[in-house]
Amino acid sequence: MTTSLPSSPLLGGLAPDAFMKRYWHKRPLLIRQAIPGFTAPLSRDALFALAAQDDVESRLVSFARKRWQLAHGPFDADDLPPLTRKQWTLLVQGVNLHAPAVDALMQQFRFIPDARLDDVMISYATDGGGVGPHLDSYDVFLLQAHGQRRWRIGPQRDTTWQEGVPLRILKHFDAEEEWVLAPGDMLYLPPGYAHDGVAVGECMTYSIGFRAPLEQEMLENFLYYLAENAADLPFARHFAGRYADPKQSAVKHPAALPDAMIDTLMSQLEKVRWGQKEVEDFLGRWLSEPKSHVFFDPPERPISVDKFAREAASRGVSLSPKTQLLYRRNRYYVNGEPLEVPASTRSTLRMLADHRKLNATECANFEQKDQEIVEILYDWYASGWLQLEPDSGPVRKLRAVRKKAG
Ligand code: SIN
Ligand code: CO
Repeated sequence: MTTSLPSSPLLGGLAPDAFMKRYWHKRPLLIRQAIPGFTAPLSRDALFALAAQDDVESRLVSFARKRWQLAHGPFDADDLPPLTRKQWTLLVQGVNLHAPAVDALMQQFRFIPDARLDDVMISYATDGGGVGPHLDSYDVFLLQAHGQRRWRIGPQRDTTWQEGVPLRILKHFDAEEEWVLAPGDMLYLPPGYAHDGVAVGECMTYSIGFRAPLEQEMLENFLYYLAENAADLPFARHFAGRYADPKQSAVKHPAALPDAMIDTLMSQLEKVRWGQKEVEDFLGRWLSEPKSHVFFDPPERPISVDKFAREAASRGVSLSPKTQLLYRRNRYYVNGEPLEVPASTRSTLRMLADHRKLNATECANFEQKDQEIVEILYDWYASGWLQLEPDSGPVRKLRAVRKKAG
């Protein structure tokens, strides 16, 4: 689905449509002050605290005595080199899942389908820190969040990797362009475009990253889907019986596989069919599946369904940053599960999927007339997939006072 969204500083004054046509997946773009006056929403210490958690992926890359070193987290504060040591980088993956302000930043990139958007990785580096010249398989927006970083980029043809190093670093790298980025500046790179970012003093960089599965991986996963769901798919009727061989003759070579068995399976397999419905259903389930290290935090003492409906009508609800909610036509997929929903709930679910929240008025509307949507959302609330918006105390009190007075 395409929409004409207005132009914004985020894309250097381009409308998302123009950016997608001219740059996306094609050529780099440097955007000075993509987010004017940007200040990092997460401090260095808050990032270090995330890197100490088991459910957060982190890596430490350092360059010392002319050697690259790589270690995998979690890292306690004393596992990290001192801040006074130069040339090290801490990379923390999926920060949007843990920091609502970083999740809000990622939402600005939803002019690209959720099926392609992956996560926000944050790197912290001391002076001279970086991960070496390399190229990535995915598109990326590199937003400078704190301090400065010098980026050198080039369309590298020779992509041999250095040997004997624990990370992928290009053997040869000829930069064509070079810039120093300051907070709020952003560099977009298409897949396969070589780059090398080196911290100029202490700095933090946010990588808004995308995912693009390998075709082989898609095929394998689709075949798993067919296998798991075979019993319910229409072609299952061709596989309802048991192999029979009334025409089998006596054999001289008992170890040889019988022709009849091979021919029977060959002709049955020709009847294995799938269509767009199965492809859509597979993609919805697969792409909405949470990553293996994602754990939800259900409320310890969930409120009752009636109280939930009342609170939603006064505060609104939002999806957990960890929830993936996708749809295709009238079918919804939430965190890997397909959802059969009554027709009455579809417009609300579509709004929630696209905006990731419903405001109080939208919730007040459904509270009165639609118990089915309340039940779905309550179920998600109790699973930690969705939460009530924070209580905006004074506004609520004002409303209550007005109600009393009027
Ligand atoms: C970094 O932030 O240090 C690395 C990001 C990248 O080069 O992809
Ligand atoms: Co990179």
